[in-house]
Amino acid sequence: MKNNRDTLGGRLSAILVAAGSAVGLGNIWRFPYIAGENGGGAFLIIYIGCILLLGLPVLLAEFSVGRSTHKNAVGAYRSLSKRWTFIGYNGLIAPFIVLGFYFVVSGWTLEYLVVSITGQIADYTSPETNQALFSEFTVNPWRPIAYTLVFILITHAVIVMGVQKGIERSAKFLMPLLFIVLIILALRSMTMPDGIEGLKFFFKPDFSKVTAGTFLNAMGQAFFSLSIGLGCMVTYASYFKPDTNLQTTALNVIILDLLVAVLAGMVIFPAVFSVGIEPTSGPSLVFVTLPSIFNTMSLKILWSSAFFLLLGVAALTSTISLHEVLTVYISEEWKMGRRKAAWVATGGVTVMACAASLSVGVCKGWTIFGLTFFDLLDSLSANIVLPLGGFATSIFVGWFMNRRILRDEITNRGELPSFIYKVTSIMLRYVCPVLLMAIFLYNLGLFNYLK
Ligand code: TRP
Repeated sequence: MKNNRDTLGGRLSAILVAAGSAVGLGNIWRFPYIAGENGGGAFLIIYIGCILLLGLPVLLAEFSVGRSTHKNAVGAYRSLSKRWTFIGYNGLIAPFIVLGFYFVVSGWTLEYLVVSITGQIADYTSPETNQALFSEFTVNPWRPIAYTLVFILITHAVIVMGVQKGIERSAKFLMPLLFIVLIILALRSMTMPDGIEGLKFFFKPDFSKVTAGTFLNAMGQAFFSLSIGLGCMVTYASYFKPDTNLQTTALNVIILDLLVAVLAGMVIFPAVFSVGIEPTSGPSLVFVTLPSIFNTMSLKILWSSAFFLLLGVAALTSTISLHEVLTVYISEEWKMGRRKAAWVATGGVTVMACAASLSVGVCKGWTIFGLTFFDLLDSLSANIVLPLGGFATSIFVGWFMNRRILRDEITNRGELPSFIYKVTSIMLRYVCPVLLMAIFLYNLGLFNYLK
């Protein structure tokens, strides 16, 4: 065991940093727009299925890999098995893909924070205006990039300050605050005229809308939202203490993450139906819908500023976790100082993020497979790269890794009940790989031959 690495404080800290990574734009920006595009209620049910059947086992597997090795993602897999080092490398390329578009949306959050603080939010009076103002901002060649760069630099600064100080503190008291603001917004949204229609859309499953794509998107969203499939939770778990209870940590993360996503849906969909926005509007959905809610509230400047500030912080605890994967890998594997390593990572993601930002605006016409670079990064990471990482992880941990390691980690060397270990082990061996493969094949249309 390396002794010069930081560790995180008590049980609460492990939950908070892991939940800080999981809860972010994935829950509040991505979840509603993906659920909206995939039919609402039925998607929610399939999504919860994915969280339980795929998310929980893979999360526990990643925790075990990280804490048993105390290494960066690549080093962790390599020290367990040379052959499976590639899972670690997947976890190294993927953060560039995720951060490429994640930083852009984080930048949008900052813009909306400024718009809120300066009172311009009052100009967002109708869905059409909101959409027009959103487009006007995103097609601007430099403004979104400027905000994105600011966000990248804030992330960089926290990373350089170190694991313990930077990450732990910020997560501790702002997350509960975000929760409270979301509840208040949900109450406001649900009581808007016709808000009930939105709740029906979100909670009443309409299985006639389910397609192969629904499963793919639900699976992708589950991986994305839980920060699994790319070495993020492996890296964080490498800082956990030996007595951290991985079972309760994983369960708490999953419950908190799901709660925030469901709350976000309860904020967005009633308002969507109340003011007449298309639930299928895509990545702009949340940014177009939220101002309509704020504008029905007294103290709208206060509410919208608080909301976008907290959303920005939630995004920050997620970008930190992704940046950390890169920084700790570069510094440990390339034997570089942490500061220098952080700059290398920052340089790489900056290039990706600038390209993604331009692809939403001035370079909208440049598409790859019919998608803008931004959309490509978004769906490539969630629907392909992360699930493949999860697939490899479940095969490796389920079948090839020394079984004692998984048992010792999940039960804290026999101190905790072994029920969850047993279930996880079976899930990793049989359920996760089969389910993931089935969803991929279903989407390739292979099952059409069986019809
Ligand atoms: N889960 C975060 C969110 O929902 C984003 C994120 C952080 C992530 N780390 C990750 C996604 C690792 C995939 C993999 O906003």
